[in-house]
Amino acid sequence: MPTKTVASAPGKVILFGEHAVVYGRPAIAVPVTQVQAIAEMELTRHPLQLDAVDLRRQWALADAPAEDPLATAVRLTLDHLGAGPPAARLTVRSTIPIASGMGSGAAVSVAIIRAVSEYLGHTLTDDEVCRLAFQVEKLYHGTPSGIDNTVVTYSRPVYFCHGQPMRTLAVPQAFLILVAVTGIASPTRHVVGDVRRAWQADPKRFEAIFDQVGQVAESARTAIEEGRPGELGPLMERNQALLTDMGVSSPALDRLIRVALAAGAEGAKLSGAGRGGNLLALVRPETEAAVSQALLEAGAAEVIATWVRES
Ligand code: PMV
Repeated sequence: MPTKTVASAPGKVILFGEHAVVYGRPAIAVPVTQVQAIAEMELTRHPLQLDAVDLRRQWALADAPAEDPLATAVRLTLDHLGAGPPAARLTVRSTIPIASGMGSGAAVSVAIIRAVSEYLGHTLTDDEVCRLAFQVEKLYHGTPSGIDNTVVTYSRPVYFCHGQPMRTLAVPQAFLILVAVTGIASPTRHVVGDVRRAWQADPKRFEAIFDQVGQVAESARTAIEEGRPGELGPLMERNQALLTDMGVSSPALDRLIRVALAAGAEGAKLSGAGRGGNLLALVRPETEAAVSQALLEAGAAEVIATWVRES
């Protein structure tokens, strides 16, 4: 057995199809490797200790509350391997903004599952890691579609449809997006719950919106796979209008989207659950600096530039 293992997992953003993906429509998500969750297992003489550095939480696995997602990821991994907790310290760090639609929860789970299993001498397949991370998502996020754990596990652009085999996207022409973090925390579970209540109250209207979002995601997939990312701008605007119809945008997001477009972005939309979290702007290398600066001046907490490419 190794005395130390380290595993990491990237952040992610959803390019197209959030919310509708919970209702079986396709969505596109890509990894954001500039931000990462890192889990480290190290031999000690004590029963398994968890140290969540950014959350400033430290406890023995045996004392961790049932609702702690980090401890849950560890317990599910140990159960899956039929192993008991080793004498070790598990340290978790992350640079992925929390509650910002960047998949920090899924990334932390994936990093933990890999670090713990490798420490115990087992290299799990990506499929096993993805399924275990989905178990954690289900316990803490109500009715997750599974897109977060999938893109974070495979760390490749994915075209995702719940219940169908994972499909990675070909990206013959790389393109540049800015991820602007609003700094407004927006727990996915609440927004997903609100959409569910609205859907229950008017299923016909919401099914029609979801169908249109699905068509946008499908058109985006074709544009990306056929190397025409220039077509994504209008599709982002269409998707944003449908998200507004669902009631998940917000004045702060709308304002930052307008700012990005006015500064030269070819398209902009919220990404993830909405109400806060983050938004995306499609830019070219020559407009990147101006759009990024305009977003920061308009109050974005952080702007991350990332190229979408095949891997
Ligand atoms: O975790 P977030 O904020 O990226 O939101 C997840 C996207 C939703 O479609 C709203 C929910 C889901 O489970 O797919």
